[in-house]
Amino acid sequence: MSPPTTALQVQQRASLRDFNTFGLPAVAATLVRIASAADVRRVVDHPTFGPAPKFVLGGGSNVVLTRDVAAVVLKIEIPGRRLVREDADAWIVEAGAGEPWADFVAWTLDQGWPGLENLALIPGSVGASPVQNIGAYGVELKDRFDALDAVDLVTGRSVTLTAAECHFGYRDSIFKGLLAGKSVITQVRFRLPRPWRPALGYLELERKMAETGNATPDARTIFDWICAVRRAKLPDPAVIGNAGSFFKNPVVSAEQCRDIIGRDPEIVHYPLPDGSVKLAAGWLIDACGWKGKTVGHAGVYDKQALVLVNRGGASGAEVMTLARAIQESVYGRFGIRLEPEPVIY
Ligand code: EPU
Repeated sequence: MSPPTTALQVQQRASLRDFNTFGLPAVAATLVRIASAADVRRVVDHPTFGPAPKFVLGGGSNVVLTRDVAAVVLKIEIPGRRLVREDADAWIVEAGAGEPWADFVAWTLDQGWPGLENLALIPGSVGASPVQNIGAYGVELKDRFDALDAVDLVTGRSVTLTAAECHFGYRDSIFKGLLAGKSVITQVRFRLPRPWRPALGYLELERKMAETGNATPDARTIFDWICAVRRAKLPDPAVIGNAGSFFKNPVVSAEQCRDIIGRDPEIVHYPLPDGSVKLAAGWLIDACGWKGKTVGHAGVYDKQALVLVNRGGASGAEVMTLARAIQESVYGRFGIRLEPEPVIY
């Protein structure tokens, strides 16, 4: 007899290699496929899974697995995308947490709802996008966020969180802090302002405008430019395992930045409104000679030093050995501690 449709889809000793974009080997003792908010509640009510620690896995594009996972892995596969409503000043669009982010962005543009084009081609799932407040080319998720629904992993209750309640920061949110492992994001709603206005402040987009002589690109053109820029310097995880930027761009005080500029006038830096300065981690790593280097089976991508890659058959431990060596050499030369951007398990 086939199992009832309300039964949880459970796999024991499941390989996670295909479920993380780094392609790192790790085995989940138990993997549960989550297709709806109701499935999350079934996990909470389950006699064994309910009380056990959980590990929420989205697209696996922002995680470094260094060991097998004893916690119950919840693989989020919640589908769906729809226009919630059309206000005078915005389109409100919703997607299930399991939708691939890049497909969702392309779909909104196809439907005639622009606003996410600067975030084109980012790997990972919709449900993971608020966790690290994904950002690229002058736009962050929080700039287009409306609200999200989540299910509490202790009580099984559904909650709706506003932007303020998500505590968004640079590659950060409450889901990396207080709520880490404590809730499952099930749906995310986006607020796409109308009339649409392009975000063109980023250097690479200015370069494209100059190159093409098009100073008033539409959303589709910006989408195409962003895809081209990303393809030119970021490795496609389907071809070379990676987790995007491996380190956050560090923020230092104005004095510390002046001191570094005194010794390295070329350093790429961006002054922030509060007087502190953000440094390009990729530049720091590159300056230490790491670009294109390989240690064991892990390496530094040859077109972008901020991205660590799996050269084939790497383990999570090898990736972390390389990461630590990079951190040490950047600290030795610049006195700056680089912080990993993905979740290290
Ligand atoms: N640079 C070098 N050498 C390198 C890499 C970079 O000199 O090997 C220099 C570049 O020339 C540039 C500067 O460093 O002047 C900054 O590089 P880039 O513009 O590529 O941006 P980024 O700081 O490396 C950030 C995000 C990316 C995002 C891009 C575009 C972080 C940690 N990374 O990268 O996000 O796509 O800006 O907005 O904030 C991700 O989070 O996974 C990610 C890819």
